[in-house]
Amino acid sequence: KDTPYLRVTPSLLKKMTGRKGKDAWMVLGGRVYNITPYIPFHPGGEPELLKGAGRDGTKLFGEIHPWVNYEGMLAACLVGIYVSEEDGEA
Ligand code: HEM
Repeated sequence: KDTPYLRVTPSLLKKMTGRKGKDAWMVLGGRVYNITPYIPFHPGGEPELLKGAGRDGTKLFGEIHPWVNYEGMLAACLVGIYVSEEDGEA
């Protein structure tokens, strides 16, 4: 059976910045995570974390702390997979 996860497009992702009452989503390794619940716990603070919000944070994340196990930490925050505009939900 197919996963129930959302197929998230670039245009949807870029709205999810954590501002204007929206949650903060971040792409890491091709998967989209809702990082909102993690904001208060991030050791690097909120502004640093939100640098990757609404965008693909894979490179930035890897430059700062490649040893951090985001897949384990954010497993419950998985929203979906990151796809091209054409391959999105609707
Ligand atoms: C620490 C930035 C995303 C988990 C830090 C620190 C910075 C930073 C600057 C160092 C804080 C210090 O030592 O004073 C960023 C940026 C992110 C990002 C720019 C966006 C791309 C994340 C995410 C997670 C995470 C998504 C977890 C899922 C951690 C952890 C530490 C940390 C666990 C402590 C690491 C250690 O001391 O070994 N972050 N972070 N970060 N961040 Fe992030």
